[in-house]
Formats: sequence, structure tokens, C-alpha cells
Amino acid sequence: MTQKKLRSAAWFGTADKNGFMYRSWMKNQGIPDHEFDGRPIVGICNTWSELTPCNAHFRKIAEHVKRGISEAGGFPVEFPVFSNGESNLRPTAMLTRNLASMDVEEAIRGNPIDSVVLLTGCDKTTPALLMGAASCDIPAIVVTGGPMLNGKLEGRNIGSGTAVWQLHESLKAGEINLHQFLAAEGGMSRSAGTCNTMGTASTMACMAEALGTSLPHNAAIPAVDARRYVLAQMSGARAVAMAREGLSLSKILTRQAFENAIRVNAAIGGSTNAVIHLKAIAGRIGVPLELEDWTRIGAGTPTLVDLMPSGRFLMEEFYYAGGLPAVLRRLGEHGLLPHPEALTVNGHTLWDNVKDAPSYDDEVIRPLDKPLLPDGGMRILRGNLAPRGAVLKPSAATPALLQHRGRAVVFENLEHYKERIVDEALEVDADSVLVLKNCGPRGYPGMAEVGNMGLPPKLLRQGVKDMVRISDARMSGTAYGTVVLHVAPEAGAGGPLLAVQDGDWIELDCAGGRLHLDISDEELARRLAERAAQAALEAQPARGGYQGLYVQHVLQADEGCDFDFLVGCRGADVPRHSH
Ligand code: FES
Ligand code: MG
Repeated sequence: MTQKKLRSAAWFGTADKNGFMYRSWMKNQGIPDHEFDGRPIVGICNTWSELTPCNAHFRKIAEHVKRGISEAGGFPVEFPVFSNGESNLRPTAMLTRNLASMDVEEAIRGNPIDSVVLLTGCDKTTPALLMGAASCDIPAIVVTGGPMLNGKLEGRNIGSGTAVWQLHESLKAGEINLHQFLAAEGGMSRSAGTCNTMGTASTMACMAEALGTSLPHNAAIPAVDARRYVLAQMSGARAVAMAREGLSLSKILTRQAFENAIRVNAAIGGSTNAVIHLKAIAGRIGVPLELEDWTRIGAGTPTLVDLMPSGRFLMEEFYYAGGLPAVLRRLGEHGLLPHPEALTVNGHTLWDNVKDAPSYDDEVIRPLDKPLLPDGGMRILRGNLAPRGAVLKPSAATPALLQHRGRAVVFENLEHYKERIVDEALEVDADSVLVLKNCGPRGYPGMAEVGNMGLPPKLLRQGVKDMVRISDARMSGTAYGTVVLHVAPEAGAGGPLLAVQDGDWIELDCAGGRLHLDISDEELARRLAERAAQAALEAQPARGGYQGLYVQHVLQADEGCDFDFLVGCRGADVPRHSH
């Protein structure tokens, strides 16, 4: 094989003062001379943390990756990066996704690394690591921590997150008591791994596989299944070969790969968060991606995977039924894979990897003529209420509400919502449209997952299960409902959402892609000017620290919520030595 010169040679490859320094300090870890013979140095970018329970088993995964690297003749070096734990981090793990991506980018670029294994799991860790690696464009392969085993409650399966939303509504409706509610905690999260529903973690794991950045089956093997560790070892070995081949991320993360991923998102009933994360990743590698691509490529794609929150099953069943390769094969056989020839990290095309993939359960991975939903594509809405777009996931919505006209019940922020929603005197009925402001990237800050506002208790007690909800927030991938999200520009950036008042008529036309506030342009402009003047009076002193940086530089949802100064690929060159 003709081997191209590895970038680590710039550190370890010279018999001079600099080479001495780089090698000598590494040798304090017990590394013998012969390991500095020019073999590929493979980084293992680890998001392990006990505060990120979904990734808390990653030291063990890293050990198996190391086996693969050593076995293939590489030199493994594990390093930690900021770990975004969805369940604990306040005000939202989204606030620090970009921080983690900066950490990843600088750690990769500054160090003697020829290729990198990205250990991802909990929601934001997948996009953060791909974003950082993409900005360096070295060879990279994703190894996901895998989903938790099925949750269990009183003999039945319950899904991560989804069970919380459901049980909480039952509690508020008076169907269960607090003891029953709290008793579900242990059973819902009973093994290592990420949320076992098709939430954002599972979605992003599927996106990584569909993009070609991981080995086949990476998305679905349960966290505690021995085959997860086999995959980790194989990925480590493959990362060594990728370094030798110079198979950098830009050869995998092409426009074709993103089109495949968008189609796959519809087929799996994936999370709305993927719209933001894929845009951010694409931005880092220089691939153009527009909101309308989601409608253009996703619309008309049947949802085949019958997983909660849209359907019935969980990730364990998904793996046993054949996992993502089975879905890709079904799509491909019906001409629904836009680019079967897209290259993947194992050096084969996506289609080569899946063309013989078996399916074992048509209930979990539906055939095309018996889909969970005939059209599972994400809907992009525009109108005077969302000039730069909003997102709705029809597979999680109530069909009858997808065409709706109702009167607004407005919450100025999350605290206002919490105080007002429990007010028994609140003027609201099942046809009302709940509008939540100031939960976007700048307004929250960090664009929290609060868009799936719980319904008013008095309506829950009447048996109301869903209502149209609109906000500039995101929602958890484990959540459901007729929820319009990511309204851009957000209220916190002066968007038209700011102008909505109680009693205004709002029209949602999902099929037509329209979100309309039924007031005149003049009235809208007048209200916005009034609000802007009021906001200027109430302006708080500028925030310091990372939150200050965030609010100053975060882009709107339609641009992926990356920082303006982070968009783009900056490569991996560092011409200067450290001393
Ligand atoms: Fe970590 Fe859901 S909270 S994957
Ligand atoms: Mg989440």
C-alpha cells in the first residue's frame, strides 16, 4: 500500500529537540520506543462522565476500541472532552453542544492524532463530536454507546422519556397517584445506555450510520449486548486503516450522505432535533443544506420503524428485527435511498453494506406496503409567524390537528407558562393554540426542550390528549404531540412570535407548509415595534462567561444553532511547534 505521510510524524517523526520532547513525556506512560515507529496514532475521543449516565459505561467501550487499534497496528490515545448529559445539565444540554464541539475540534487539531474514534451516546454528544471532527477533517469513525434495554413497569415495556410524559399526564389527569408515578423511575432506566425510544440519541445514532460515519449496526445494538463491544473493537481496527488510507470525513460527509440521512430520518420517525444537528454538521464540512431539503427529500417517505414515541416498540426490538441496515435495504429496494453509492467509513458504499441485510420482524420494521405512517417526513412551515421556518413532526402529531385554526393562549416565557397553565380559570379549550415565547437559542438561552408544553390539567381531566402548540423551543425526541417547534427568528431575536397576544387567531396548515398569525402586516409591525421598545427598556446587563458568548454568537434554528464563528472546515494543519 502506498502510505501517505501521517500527521503524527510532525510530532514524533524527527530525531531532534522537538521529537525528543513530544516522545519523552509520552514515554512516562510506559510506551516503548518501537511504538513511535510511524504507526497511526488513533485518538479515542471520550465523552465518558458519571454525570452523563447515558455515557457512563464508555471506559469499557474505550477498552474494546483500544484492542481493535492495537490489533490493527495502531497506537491508541484516549482523551476526554466535555460531556453533554441531557438529563442533568441545566438550563439545557443544547447550550453546551457548541462548547463541546470546540473542545473536540481543538483537541483533535492540537494533538498528534491521525484518525479519531468518536465515542458518542447521549443526544448532544453525537452532533458535538461530528461537528468538531468535521471542522478538522481528519479520518473519523463514530462508535455509539448503544441504547438501554427496554424499560419495564408492572410487566410491560416503557420507553425512556416517553413514559415520563405519559405518566405525568396520567398523574395530572388523576388516573394514577404520586406513588405510582415515582415507582416507574427505576424500571425505566435499568441498564447502561442511551434512551431506548427513537429519541434524539437513537435518531442521531441512526443519522451517523446513515451518513456513513459508523460501521453498520452501530445505531441499534443495545449498550450491554456483547456485540456492542465487538463493534467497538472492529471500529478501532478500522480507524487505523482509515488513517493509512487518508479516508477523511469530507469524503464521507457529502451532500449525498446528508440527503440519505434526511430520507432515513423520515423512515425511522426520527427526532426533530436532527434538523438542527444535521444543519450544524453540514455547516462544518461545507455542505449546503436548507430547511426545505427536509420537505423535498423527506416528504412522501413512509415511516417503517414502529418505535416510540410515534409507534409501539423500543430500540432492543429494533436491533433484533434487523436494525438500521434492514431499513436501508427496504428503502433501497424501493428506490427510496437517494444515493446508494455514498461512501462509508468501512470503504464500501452504503448499498454494499446493506443490500443483503436481513429483516426478522415486520411488526417492528414494517414493509413498505404496511408502513406505520405513509408519509413520515418532517414538515417545514413558513408564514408571517415563522418567516425563517418552523418544524413539525407529523408522525408524532394528531392527524386531525394538522389543519387547524384556533385562538392563541400566550405564555411570555417558561415561568409564565408554568404559573398560568395550572390556573383553573385560564380561558382555554381543546381548540386553543398554546404559544410559548422566549425559549429559543438566545431567549432561553440554549433552546431548551420545552416545546411540548404539557396540556392544561383541566383539559386533561376532560380527556383532551393533544392540542396545537407553537414555540421557538425544541422538544425532546422522546416527546409527541402536534407541536410546532424551532420558530425562527425566535422571540428573543425579535421574531414575530413576540407579537402574538391572547385571543389572536392562528392557522396551521401542515400540508400547505403554512403557519399564519391572522393579523394585518401593519398591526404585526406595530406590535413588534412596541415590543422592541419595551424590551430595550427592560434590557438586562449583558451576560458574562460562556452564556454571554453563546447569546452573542448563536445562529438561529434554521442555521443549526452553531456559533457564527465556528461554521466551516478549518482543517488540521498546525505548522508551529509548541516550544
Ligand atoms: Fe441521554 Fe436520552 S438522556 S440519551
Ligand atoms: Mg433530549
